[in-house]
Parts: sequence; C-alpha cells; structure tokens
Amino acid sequence: MEDNLPVNVREYQELAKKALPKMHYDYINGGAEDEYTLRENVAAYGRILLRPRVLIDVSKIDMSTTLLGYNIPSPIIVAPTGTHKLANPKGEVATARAAAACNTIMVLSFSSSCKIEEVASSCDAIRFYQLYVYKRRDVSATLVRRAESLGFKAIVLTVDTPVLGRREADIRNKMIAPGLANLEGLMSFDDDLDSGGGSKLERFARQTLDPSLSWKDVEWLKSITSLPILLKGIVTAEDARKAVEAGAAGVIVSNHGARQLDYAPPTIAALEEVVKAVAGAVPVLVDGGIRRGTDVFKALALGAKAVMVGRPVFYGLAARGEAGAKHVIEMLNKELELAMALCGCRSIAEVTRRHVLTEGDRI
Ligand code: FNR
Repeated sequence: MEDNLPVNVREYQELAKKALPKMHYDYINGGAEDEYTLRENVAAYGRILLRPRVLIDVSKIDMSTTLLGYNIPSPIIVAPTGTHKLANPKGEVATARAAAACNTIMVLSFSSSCKIEEVASSCDAIRFYQLYVYKRRDVSATLVRRAESLGFKAIVLTVDTPVLGRREADIRNKMIAPGLANLEGLMSFDDDLDSGGGSKLERFARQTLDPSLSWKDVEWLKSITSLPILLKGIVTAEDARKAVEAGAAGVIVSNHGARQLDYAPPTIAALEEVVKAVAGAVPVLVDGGIRRGTDVFKALALGAKAVMVGRPVFYGLAARGEAGAKHVIEMLNKELELAMALCGCRSIAEVTRRHVLTEGDRI
C-alpha cells in the first residue's frame, strides 16, 4: 500500500468511493438538487489561468501566513464537515491529529461524531469551532461555552443553513442523522427520526435548525462569547459589508460545498466581490471545489487570506484514516509550493491579482 499511495486528491476520492458504503459516499460527495453549483465549484477553477513570472530565484518558498494572529505554515486549513465516523471509526479525533501533524487549523463541525472534549484532548492543533444556531438557543450556547473552555480559538458561525438544502442522494438513500455526539444529554427529539418520508437527516434538520436565523443572532452570539466570530456562507458584497459592520472577525466565502442553494455562484467566482467589499477590514477565506494547489494559488491571487478544504480531507480519512487525511493536506501544500515556484512567488505576499487571468479579464 505504502508504495502505491495516491498522488492527488482525485485518486483519494476514487479510493474513498471504493472504501465506503454508497450511502456514506453519496452523503460526503453529493450536493443540492441538480448539483450545478457542485460541478461549478470545481469547474470555475478550471476557467482561471495562471500568469507565471520567470527568472526569479525560487530556491526558497515560504508559504507561511497568519490567521487571526495565529501563525500557520500554509494557508490551507480544514473545513468543518460533519460525522467523520462515517469515514473512519476514529472520526474527528483522527482528522484533528492529521491537522495537528501539519500544524494547521481544524474547524470542528457542530455535527461532529466525536465529543468536543475528546477532540480537544487528542492533540494540540489550533482549533476553531463551527456553530449552527438551533431553535434551542440554549443548546447552541452550551456548545459555544464548552468550546471556549476547551481552548477553541474562534467560532465559525454558518449562516447559509437556516434550513437544510435538498440533497437528493440522501433522500434516495434514506440517509441517517448526522453526528449527535455533542447533543447527548442536551436535547431529545420529539419525533421518531425513522418515520416519515425523505432522509433522517432532513427530519433531524427540521427539528433543530432555526429558520429565523438573522443578523440579530450574530449580536446574540457576540453577547455570549468573547471569541472572534467568522461568518461562513457569504457570497455577496452586500452581506460581506454587513458582516464587517456586525463585527465579524472574518468572512468565509462558501456555499457549503454546494449542499445548500443550488445555482448559488461557485465560490471562486464570488470571492473577488467579497474581497472588494470587505476592503481589508477583516480576513476573507474561501472554500468549495479546491482540489489542487493551483486552486489554492488562484484563491490567494483573488484575495483570499486562507482556504478551507472539506471533501478532500474526508476522502483521505475514508481511504487511509489519519495518515490519509494528513497526506491530503501535505499533497495540497506541496502542490501549492510548486505552483508558487513556477509562478515566481517566494512568499504568500508575492501572490497577486496579476498572477491570474479570469474569464472577465479575457473579455
Ligand atoms: C460539509 N460542510 C459543513 N459546513 C458546516 O458549516 N458545518 C457542517 O457540519 C458541514 N458538514 C459538511 C459535511 C460534508 C460531508 C461536506 C462535504 C461539507 C461544508 C464544508 O464546511 C465546506 O464548506 C465544504 O465542504 C467546502 O467544499 P469542498 O472543499 O468539500 O469542495
């Protein structure tokens, strides 16, 4: 096996497909409705070209950067994705250890299948905590406090999920509910999640997620935590400006890996308008469709401070556990290093808008 390690994210995806039951692979891989945005998240990167600069000494490449004051060796961090035990019995603990081995940041999902205490004590990665605002505000508040007391460094509030997107593969497969490890003892569910049509996941979401989620909840969250709050799921200049006004410490351009609103823009196409609207007030991150180091390079050139990867890490975890998740992050880092060298960029600061050619530039 060690002689035949996958050489890119795609190969990890193929291994994950072979390793997982169909229901689990479809849950990880799938998107909403027609999956237009799912395809476009990846395809839009393919329409951006690179403008390499040559005859620059690239014998030393420094990919390090800072995010909210934390030094990280590369701008690639781990996106929050739920229920890692679907991919590997060690779940989020394995992913956290992989992130820690790469000295990068892991954003732990609210729908983690491992207890946050267990993840926190498994290694000393820098961790952020992703939050869903539940109808039961007390449940969300308890988890914020637990994360804060366990040394998580920021809250990533997901704002694109007042209701769950329609993921047809999950409906067809009667997908089970997501990771509930952290809700034990905090809440019970009135309905039998097994009854009724559709997926268990949908019925679970209907009971828990609060469709009244609004800017007032950002205020509320600020009132219960002193941690910096990043808003995840912003794809317009209008909302980016509101996020800054609301006191967000960062904006994450995301369409939830195309699992929520189909026909939302591919994130790399929305990044520049958000970067312009934020005008340097806070860091802008992006996720969705990143499968190559060149994709990361393009995101940085269009103004991202850092990127998050979701499915690629999940594929690594499914294929080879902690070692696979770590290898995926390492591969993406190596690919970014190569892209920087071949574009003549020796540091992240040297990656500029002039290094990419978008479709708009070509018109
Ligand atoms: C997600 N995502 C997500 N986001 C979030 O805020 N909370 C969550 O619990 C989850 N869960 C989740 C599960 C799975 C299986 C996937 C694929 C995604 C969205 C995630 O944070 C991120 O936005 C996308 O995964 C980024 O796109 P890529 O990298 O998967 O293409």
